[in-house]
Amino acid sequence: INNDQPYRTWYHFQPPKNWMNDPNGPMYYKGVYHFFYQHNPDGATFGKKMVWGHSISYDLINWTHLKHAIRPDSIGDINSCFSGSATILPGEKPVILYTGIDGKKHQVQNLAFPKNLLDPFLREWEKHPQNPVMTPPSEVEEDNFRDPSTAWQGKDGKWRVVIGAQNGDEGKAILYKSDDFFDWKVDPNPFFATDGTGVCECPDFFPVYVNSTNGVDTSVENSSVRHVFKISYLRRHHDYYFIGSYVSDSDKEKFVPDVKYTGSWKELRFDYGNFYASKSFFDYAKNRRILWGWVEENDSRQDSIERGWAGLQTIPRKFWLDKDGKQLMQWPIEELEKLRDNQINITGETLLGGSTLEVQGITASQADVEVLFELPDLQNAELIDPSEVDPQILCSEQYASRNGIIGPFGLLALASKDQTEKTAIFFRIYRTLDKYVCLMCSDQSRSSLRQETEKTTYATIFDIDPNLKTISLRTLIDRSIIESFGDGGKVCITSRVYPSLAIEKDAHLYVFNNGSQSVVISKLNAWSMKQAEFGMENII
Ligand code: FRU
Repeated sequence: INNDQPYRTWYHFQPPKNWMNDPNGPMYYKGVYHFFYQHNPDGATFGKKMVWGHSISYDLINWTHLKHAIRPDSIGDINSCFSGSATILPGEKPVILYTGIDGKKHQVQNLAFPKNLLDPFLREWEKHPQNPVMTPPSEVEEDNFRDPSTAWQGKDGKWRVVIGAQNGDEGKAILYKSDDFFDWKVDPNPFFATDGTGVCECPDFFPVYVNSTNGVDTSVENSSVRHVFKISYLRRHHDYYFIGSYVSDSDKEKFVPDVKYTGSWKELRFDYGNFYASKSFFDYAKNRRILWGWVEENDSRQDSIERGWAGLQTIPRKFWLDKDGKQLMQWPIEELEKLRDNQINITGETLLGGSTLEVQGITASQADVEVLFELPDLQNAELIDPSEVDPQILCSEQYASRNGIIGPFGLLALASKDQTEKTAIFFRIYRTLDKYVCLMCSDQSRSSLRQETEKTTYATIFDIDPNLKTISLRTLIDRSIIESFGDGGKVCITSRVYPSLAIEKDAHLYVFNNGSQSVVISKLNAWSMKQAEFGMENII
């Protein structure tokens, strides 16, 4: 299957063909998960007339593609239907707010409704006859006013929504309020603003429980929740999130982050790799909040055209606030485990410095790997000054094959037999004057013998407990995507790779340790992954 398409994935969401970018309007409705996405129906590159693709699923893993939900065919969106979000109004009535590009190429916000609420697939969508419902206010640029969030209802009963915008160099999220979801009034105070960042795209704003991994509905506001504000900065092409307080009881309603944005590598990100324009939704069927993110191609435009498609979505991730309240934790949804096949395991195997062990007996081109490493005494770790380093530079200079003390150790994914191609996902532990830190890296520099693919390394550094005895790594490998979850979901790194040798049966998986200190594979479970089912209904 897919022999001529070695990079087409087996279990990540993809449209049948053509270009896909942002996830749009994810929701759960009458037993069915809905996923919409930015789609160019006419080709494998970003298009002049973007539409909303629409697919449905019972488990977020196997999908049926439906016909396009929202297309550019009215005054408010004649030049494109850009990103937006769904809100479920009382009485179980879903609505969508999305950005349209109008005849003057201005960005405006439009409202759409399902034609038939009895159809759980919500196949047909109708636009409000009086669209647009919001036009750019005076203090924002007309072509930088987009991506309405899911709405939430305040204590006063009014609906609220945030829109990404820009004015000069300032990026901001603008708050709108409405009694009826149709007549929207702009709030003059920005809900969130950052200097020098440029446009804010795809804002997302929601509460998370302080003491539970459960998700919570977007309108909940009480002492058992904190709030999270997520923004995509186009200039950096990264998604940042902030944990903080929602100040709703003053005239200056806004979000106040616990830690202000400075633009350094220390900012919190959902993913330190290739991941953008993410969006979450509350899945009330399973009481969890789920995150989707777009993963773009890393080879050329011409390569996309030749393949006939471009863009992936990450495996949906459940996420929640960590116990310390300082960051979010993420984990692939449990439904993914249904695709696991053919399990192999390794326990209690010591990896001496400089050793490599092949994980045999699974299809290494499509796999789910969970490994728990037992660490040596941390006191032996190398000393660094974390204020002096940039993890990405550290990772690219100290790539996987160089020796350290505690690490680099980890996985070599999508590796060729001779290891001339490999993506190393690894940890390396350091000591600072007052704590221990871990570098987690996904090193694409040797991922393909093809010259023209982008091979930047991705990395971050995070604090670890001085008494830490083990560290876990879970990696989802799927032909041209590698998603890794470090330390139980504290740090995620997603990458796209395009091997020329490590394809299908010629792909191998190894565990390695290039630190002088041994580490022990206390437990490794790996599975071949079955192909998810993708069906089609009435595609036009
Ligand atoms: C983010 C983005 C959004 C916009 C959409 C257009 O990737 O630029 O701001 O709505 O993509 O496809």
